[in-house]
Amino acid sequence: MPLFKTINLSQTVATTQILVWKVTESYAELFEQVILNENNRIRLNGMRSEIHQRAFLSVRKLLQEAGYTDLDLYYDEFGKPHLQGKKHISITHSHNFSAIIISDEIVGIDIEMQREKITRIADKFCDSEFQFLDISCEDYIRKLTVIWGAKEAIFKIRNEKGISFKDHISVDNFRISAKQTIATLHSDNLVKDFKIHFEEIEDFTLVYAFEK
Ligand SMILES: CC(C)(COP(=O)(O)OP(=O)(O)OC[C@H]1O[C@@H](n2cnc3c(N)ncnc32)[C@H](O)[C@@H]1OP(=O)(O)O)[C@@H](O)C(=O)NCCC(=O)NCCS
Repeated sequence: MPLFKTINLSQTVATTQILVWKVTESYAELFEQVILNENNRIRLNGMRSEIHQRAFLSVRKLLQEAGYTDLDLYYDEFGKPHLQGKKHISITHSHNFSAIIISDEIVGIDIEMQREKITRIADKFCDSEFQFLDISCEDYIRKLTVIWGAKEAIFKIRNEKGISFKDHISVDNFRISAKQTIATLHSDNLVKDFKIHFEEIEDFTLVYAFEK
């Protein structure tokens, strides 16, 4: 499938582009359509799962849709991606979806499948959120998935060891229909707020975060 969805945001002078790919192409189809740098060619060959390889290649398709190629992308020692130039980028993939966010602002993105399994680990990544979460509510799994995605997106922004999802990041109460909320990172002497946006795509939740 070609590009699945594009979201363009314009906030005062800053612009942000979010691109989502639904991976339906074969490995060969994707491979022949993308440019890869040498490191990423080696990484691709080392991946055990073909789903992961296709997701990785689809991210390169998204980069090309946004006017970049893999040659503009590099990773730091922690695995965080960066673009040559001034724009910020964040990358996510899960099963047959991948997404990138490219912005003038500092950003993080995450896509997660909504799964029952998340209820079993809720107490590992939620704390203050239990004040508004209702286990008997039909949107419990959807809300947990937003919270998880928000924390992953913030983790990707901060790129710091030692951040605990449960102890250091709290997500404010929200309604699924609102498609946004606020999250706060408390670590050491720092308190920092993040704007969280989310939307549901089939049975996945796409979450992206901006530093406030
Ligand atoms: C690194 C991490 C953020 C990746 O997230 P994920 O949900 O597993 O996978 P995603 O597909 O959403 O993201 C993968 C992409 O994140 C990016 N990424 C990897 N490490 C990163 C880092 N340190 N900072 C920012 N981005 C990073 C990469 O672009 C990667 O894709 P690519 O290598 O194919 O380009 C995640 O594995 C992690 O370490 N999370 C924090 C762990 C944690 O505290 N968990 C709490 C448990 S309660």
